[in-house]
Amino acid sequence: MSVQEYLDKHMLSRKIEDAVNAAVRAKTPDPSNHMRKAVPSVITKVKARQILDSRGIPTVEVDLYTNKGMFRASAPSGATSGMYEAIELRDGDKGTYLGNGVSRAVRNINEKICEALTGMDPTLQAHVDQAMIDLDKTEKKNELGANAILAVSIAACKAGAAEKEASELSTWLFSILSVPLYKHIADLSGKTNLNLPVPAFTLISGGKHAGNNLAIQEIMILPVGAKKFEEAVQMGSETYHHLKAVITEKYGAHECNVGEDGGLAPNVARHVFREGLDLVKEAIDRTGYKERIKIALDVAATDFCIGTKYDLDSKSPNKSGQNFKSVEDMIEMYKELCKDYPIVSIEDPFDKEDWDHVKYFSGLGLCQVVGDDLLMSNPKRIERAIRETACNALLLKVNQVGTVTEAIEVVKMAKDAHWGVVVSQRSGETEDSFIADLSVGLATGQIKAGAPCRGERLAKYNQVLFLSTDLSMLSSSFPYLMKMCGGFLATNLHQEVVLQLLRIEEELGEHSIYVGDDWRQS
Ligand code: PGA
Ligand code: ZN
Repeated sequence: MSVQEYLDKHMLSRKIEDAVNAAVRAKTPDPSNHMRKAVPSVITKVKARQILDSRGIPTVEVDLYTNKGMFRASAPSGATSGMYEAIELRDGDKGTYLGNGVSRAVRNINEKICEALTGMDPTLQAHVDQAMIDLDKTEKKNELGANAILAVSIAACKAGAAEKEASELSTWLFSILSVPLYKHIADLSGKTNLNLPVPAFTLISGGKHAGNNLAIQEIMILPVGAKKFEEAVQMGSETYHHLKAVITEKYGAHECNVGEDGGLAPNVARHVFREGLDLVKEAIDRTGYKERIKIALDVAATDFCIGTKYDLDSKSPNKSGQNFKSVEDMIEMYKELCKDYPIVSIEDPFDKEDWDHVKYFSGLGLCQVVGDDLLMSNPKRIERAIRETACNALLLKVNQVGTVTEAIEVVKMAKDAHWGVVVSQRSGETEDSFIADLSVGLATGQIKAGAPCRGERLAKYNQVLFLSTDLSMLSSSFPYLMKMCGGFLATNLHQEVVLQLLRIEEELGEHSIYVGDDWRQS
């Protein structure tokens, strides 16, 4: 691309002219600094590298640069992958990282994506994402790799948030009063009624996430009766530690190892569901929170479906073959469990292609029925599930869709259908806390980020905690900021700043609302 073509493509001549005019109008004594701030920021470089995720498996990390700074993001990865989701690109060379290297995805970012995005405005998330989709040209993003595209998309979203802040506020206030990432996401999706989600804490791990004999993947708790997110975290943490004690007493400390998402992973005996649920129930009883804490299951039934039967002993070393359940048995069992335990949500109760039974089960109205493997966050599968009323909640795994823009779109689809929405982690996570801001910005009402333990899980919960406490802190520091600004009120700029403070303060009260009992709102 020639210099002239580059200037034309990014309308730089026009932007520079505007900046010069703005400096002249302001009669500024420091035109170069004024112009630097007036020119909208663009993406100047995208640099990727291979890092390791929480399982010690390679994944992609990106640093995206604009005139305002550097913005970092990384891609998660899961144990389950299906034919309807965006494809993560792995090197496949068995001699290196057992074939799991992501150097091709990294190269795609450093060469192709960097060139395509340089000069683009990071606030235009849909344009940035579309540029990568156009460059990739495949339906499932397998050319550049969904891991490459997603990491860049998230980094661009962070850069877009920072750009809005810097253009709206003076630089010295920029560091104090940043328009947060969740707010930028809310703007992108047109959302105004924000709230803090109910966390679904994994207490017991099984299935593909743990080496124990538990066929089902997760037993989670939802502190729906908490008053604030902070209290929800406290309730989750206390229940987790009570559970550790219950398991130690019952089976010994050696059964307190954890699964990939931090849930405790004891070996339970033959009553796969009930024994795990009893342990959790006992832990809840010990906290005294009683009915303020509900239970959710991720059965991930596809993983132990053999033909038309479900093998609850699928992970036992001495499989007796006696614990096979028909789909009718499973339905009866779920009915009983919903009666005997405070279960409010079941994810993937049947095989991912068994649309009829999941529809039938959802129709019973016993609890929220979440589609994870059923939907794979794929817009066509979600559309079908809405049309056929197959389930009533979406589990959103951002890397299965592949871009922030598409993630926002599928959440809208689900909300328009009055579904619940659970923004979800993957079993292979990084310290990137993006999904926390995503769940607040899209007011999804639910976030599933693993146990209230292990750093990569807590990165998400702690970020929501930060959003809740940071918002109220900013609110309480408002009078102080007003005083600071008071001396400068003579200038238009500072009047603007104060107005902005007032706008933010006004928003804060709403933003720190914990969704609580309203966790399935849409
Ligand atoms: P995965 O599991 O990230 O290992 O696919 C998460 C889930 O099933 O919810
Ligand atoms: Zn799942």
